[in-house]
Order: sequence, then C-alpha cells, then structure tokens
Amino acid sequence: MSTNITSENKTATNIDFLPLSGTDYVEFYVGNAKQAAHFYKTAFGFESLAYAGPETGCMDKVSYVIRQNKLTFVLTTPLRTNNEIADHIYKHGDGVKVLALMVEDAADAWKQTTSRGGKSCMEPTVLKDDNGEVVLSGIHTYGDTLHVFVERKNYKGIFMPGFRKWESSYNPPSTGLLYVDHCVGNVGWNQMNPWVKFYEDVMGFRNILSFDDKDISTEYSALMSKVMSNGNGYVKFPINEPAEGKKKSQVEEYLEFYNGEGVQHVAIATANIVETVIDLQSRGIEFLKVPDSYYETVLDRVGSIEEDLAPLRELGILIDRDDEGYLLQIFSKPLEDRPTLFFEIIQRKGAKSFGKGNFKALFEALEREQDARGNL
Ligand code: FE2
Repeated sequence: MSTNITSENKTATNIDFLPLSGTDYVEFYVGNAKQAAHFYKTAFGFESLAYAGPETGCMDKVSYVIRQNKLTFVLTTPLRTNNEIADHIYKHGDGVKVLALMVEDAADAWKQTTSRGGKSCMEPTVLKDDNGEVVLSGIHTYGDTLHVFVERKNYKGIFMPGFRKWESSYNPPSTGLLYVDHCVGNVGWNQMNPWVKFYEDVMGFRNILSFDDKDISTEYSALMSKVMSNGNGYVKFPINEPAEGKKKSQVEEYLEFYNGEGVQHVAIATANIVETVIDLQSRGIEFLKVPDSYYETVLDRVGSIEEDLAPLRELGILIDRDDEGYLLQIFSKPLEDRPTLFFEIIQRKGAKSFGKGNFKALFEALEREQDARGNL
C-alpha cells in the first residue's frame, strides 16, 4: 500500500467543534531552565519574553518564556524534588510536556473534548491581572503529554498572568524561525491507530496522510505514521509507531530512552532554509547528514527547484515534492543527551506533505547515529 491522501474524501460538512487558530506555545520540562533558555536563545535565536518564579509568587518552579516570530517556548524547571515536574524529568529527561493550542473559548474546548472521551488535566481556569484575563483548560494525550487550550482574546499582557516581562541585555539575532509547522508523537506498538482515533473522536482531527512500513523502512528498521490535521490545517500531529524490522526501530529507541510515549520532533517553518541552516550551524546546531549520493539523483525525482543545489548539498538539506509543490527540510541531531527530542527545519514551497521521498535516505542517516550509540 502506498500513501493515501484521504483529505479530499471528506468534505467540510461537519462543523468544527474544536476550532484552533494554531499552536500557542510548546512547554518543555527541563532540568535547568536558566541554561536551557540561554541555549535556545544562543543557538536558535529566540528572544527573552517573560519569566515566572519565586519573585512573581510562583514558589515551586521557574519558567522562562522565549519567542521568535510566532514560535513561543516555555522552559520550566522544578525548584524542589517530590513534585510532578521533577518526577517527569526523572522519568523522561528533558522533553515536551505541553502542546498548547490557541482557541477562542477554552471552556468550550474543554467541554467539547472531555464530553467526547478526552481525559481532563485542567478544568477551565481563569487567570487575571491588570492586563486582562487568560482562560486555560487541558486534556491528556499520548504518554505524559498534555494539550492545553489557551484563550487570550481578553488579554493585553506580555504572556499570561503570573509572568513578568523578562528583560535581558543578551539578545542574539533571530535565525528566521517562524512558527510550528507540525509536532510528531512517538507511540508504542499497536498504539498508532488508537491515538488516530483519539484525535478524530476527541479533537475532530482528520487523518490526511498515512505511511506504512513499506514507505518507511530501511534494510534494518521500520516505522508507521499517520498524519492528523485539524479542520483548518493550522495544527498537524503525525503519530509514529515502531514496525518490525531486522533491528530496532528508531521509534523503539526513542520509547526506551524517553521511557514512554512522547513528542519526537517539533518541525519549525522558515522562509529561507539555506540562510537559517547556515546560521544554526554557525551557532553549533548539528544536523543529520545524508550521503552525498542523495544529491546525484534528487532532481530526477523532484524536478526543477528555484534554489541552487550546491548549498543544499553542502548543508544536507533534503528536497521532496508532492502534487502541490515542493518542500525543503533538515533534521537536527537530538537536542539533549538522550536520543529523544529533535527539531526539523522546514521550508514549504507549495507542498503540504511531509517528505516521504526522503524517508529512506533520512532513516539510513538516523540509523548510522543509532548504531554509533549501540542501539540498533
Ligand atoms: Fe516532520
């Protein structure tokens, strides 16, 4: 079976019961938020935005909020042991805790999702300060990951009540990162379809693409993936599960080191991937490299592109095409010592797909890294 594009089969006859305007923020639980914030500012070009901690009345944790264009990260660390955040880091290492979604009505988002079987993690909660109010609510998704619904239409402040502006004299320039394109979850054996059903039933998403183990396999290992999208396409969550191969799947390695299901990668859009990747590499970010032979045949596969091939080849940027255009993408090495979370940098030039044509070359590159760690 090859790629199925099912979006065209389903018309928008159903009312979207969970309208989403995009990703509001991504929150990471990390062992040392002060240093993580410095890393993301230095290496990726985020700006300091807001801070919460003991000085703002938050006695048990510290959060730094950093932003680049429409991309907002919250980096949270616990100040003491024996709490949910410390336990999360002990179990998973640094990782994504919250994929927060922008809504018009957080109370209604909670009602719609929990009435369809979503498990609540936060009842609708109103946070107020002099700048207005933010309403939050949330549900559990795979692993220990949460979706928080954020309603901020009546808020004029810098981030949300409880945070103060974070003024810093250290302000590295942007690397051109724009917004979250998609966030991928790794789930356990036979768990992809149950989570596809969760996103369909509880959140009203549709399965827009499917990749089976024939699409995504190398000589050694395999995985399966289904891409879930909300109604307007602003929020896309591919779900991966491992598949049987001769050796251990990259998804299995993730599940082992993350100690469960969780976010595998966050894909971040740029309008100029060559400039962005040159900048990121100069700041120390390492990317997966495909063999040079990839570039000898890539244009036969994808046709002509506007960019010169030479810089793409030098940087290791991958190219793929679908019916609507093409895309350029590259994958970072893991962002921490555990082989878990990584970033994808993506520039879309019409294509709405996810780089299926690159999977084989990419996964062979991943396996070389996995093998070097002794986990293949
Ligand atoms: Fe991706």
